[in-house]
Amino acid sequence: MRNLAVFASGTGTNFVAIAKACAAGVLDARVAVMVCDKPGAAVIDRAKELGVETFVFDPHSYASKADYEKEIVKILDAKGVELICLAGYMRIVGDVLLKAYEGKIINIHPSLLPAFKGAHAVEQAVAYGVKVYGISIHWVNADLDGGKIIAQRAFPYEGSDPEEVHRIGQKIEHELYIETINKLLCER
Ligand code: GAR
Repeated sequence: MRNLAVFASGTGTNFVAIAKACAAGVLDARVAVMVCDKPGAAVIDRAKELGVETFVFDPHSYASKADYEKEIVKILDAKGVELICLAGYMRIVGDVLLKAYEGKIINIHPSLLPAFKGAHAVEQAVAYGVKVYGISIHWVNADLDGGKIIAQRAFPYEGSDPEEVHRIGQKIEHELYIETINKLLCER
């Protein structure tokens, strides 16, 4: 059984999709820990419902990013985590975590990177009037949404409702994230 960590800050639909795929045997893995930087985020309740262990922290109660990342690394090491999946983790990963888990951190982003990096990617794309939207999964490096792309899936949309784009995109995210994690685990 392979050990995953999922990092999330918000609703956690990608976390739920990954955890359920593990429970159903679609992924030959388990979510060993869900790491969340937002005490009170909905994803924490989802983890409890699914019986997934959590590490919830408030970045403001640490002197530096290095300090809380050292604590995260200790937890991941103890659990033998092989792959870290960022799923709506709205925080730039720092040196401590990047060095400890080099080549083992991936992220999902709701645009066809390198277009529309950062927060509110869908809203940015709608404001730009794009006609082809998409989802990207990429390796994580020190740049915001910046590492090499692993997988992408595009979809056409001619309207101007960001909520509708989010709805279409999230369904694709859940499928693409599970397919990609499966592929990466098989290659290791
Ligand atoms: C997802 O749409 C993900 O692509 C996005 O946050 C959302 C989290 O949703 N990530 C980014 O924008 C990263 N820059 P979820 O909490 O329901 O999984």
